[in-house]
Amino acid sequence: MKEYEMDQKQEWAVEAEDICFTYEGNDVPALDHFSLRIARGSRVAFMGGNGSGKSTFFLCLNGIRRPDKGRIMIDGKPFSYTRKGLLDVRRKTGIVFQDPDDQLFSASVYEDMSFGVLNLGMGEAQARQAVEHTAEELGLTALLDRPVHALSGGQKKLAAIADILVMGPEIVILDEPAASLDQMHTDLVRKVIAELSDKGITVLTATHDMDYAYEWADVIVVMKDGKVLRRGTPREVCTDRKLLEQAHLKPPVVLEMYESLKKSGIISAGEEPPGSVEELKKILTGRNDVRKGISEMERTPDAEENN
Ligand SMILES: Nc1ncnc2c1ncn2[C@@H]1O[C@H](COP(=O)(O)OP(=O)(O)OP(=O)(O)O)[C@@H](O)[C@H]1O
Ligand SMILES: [Mg+2]
Repeated sequence: MKEYEMDQKQEWAVEAEDICFTYEGNDVPALDHFSLRIARGSRVAFMGGNGSGKSTFFLCLNGIRRPDKGRIMIDGKPFSYTRKGLLDVRRKTGIVFQDPDDQLFSASVYEDMSFGVLNLGMGEAQARQAVEHTAEELGLTALLDRPVHALSGGQKKLAAIADILVMGPEIVILDEPAASLDQMHTDLVRKVIAELSDKGITVLTATHDMDYAYEWADVIVVMKDGKVLRRGTPREVCTDRKLLEQAHLKPPVVLEMYESLKKSGIISAGEEPPGSVEELKKILTGRNDVRKGISEMERTPDAEENN
């Protein structure tokens, strides 16, 4: 169920209430009275300029950073910063760091991936099965015995993602998952992320890719200066030009195309903005005049050939 469809009585996967956090030695807060609620099972994209506080919020969600003020609740339970409390939180929420070097620590990819599941109490044989399955999903099978320091940047990122996914957390936090991945691995990771959502897992990502956020997310959270500038559906956020300018964000290409097609009269003003490239294609192929235009274009080469 989407966040905006929920009523007050329902439980939230994540609640952050009035969080303030300043890194030691800094004058400016990284999170400044930051409040947000995230519905269980939702897909949430965090967007905003460099230094707007996305990664800091994620680190607070995993208990790596402790807010100076305010509170965080996971599944309705306030954070307890005891050893047991933090273990509980880390069992439920898995975070893939922005920089994989902050995450990988074992000798080999296999050891790194199996460390977490063995720690959760899984037996050797079951752990091996889980690691091999996740490695295959992410195209990492051939790299399982490779030392982590001998991986490329993109391979490290994939291994870091695999480290978290193998543990099967209820809330998956991915800090710029596609950073340094090639197109094939970006697609692979996005497919795996989509499957997480299908299983009801709550997925939070920080991304600078507006086209992806627009098509993938249920909710986009726009951050600026450690605050939530706006939280809304991709359509609400991305059609608000003023807001995008304020956050130095550009609208997704599909909306830019839609706007110019509307201006030139190809799409009628009443047409709802498309939620994806596929939806835009449907709008266009559904238009008689466009279809006529396309069939005329298709006829032209024959006509030329006959001349
Ligand atoms: N380890 C740190 N020590 C001191 N200040 C930090 C540290 N990490 C982040 N900051 C500061 O906290 C603020 C928020 O940074 P954060 O990393 O949360 O931003 P972000 O939105 O994730 O940015 P990016 O898009 O660049 O990843 C910035 O002003 C940054 O300089
Ligand atoms: Mg960051």
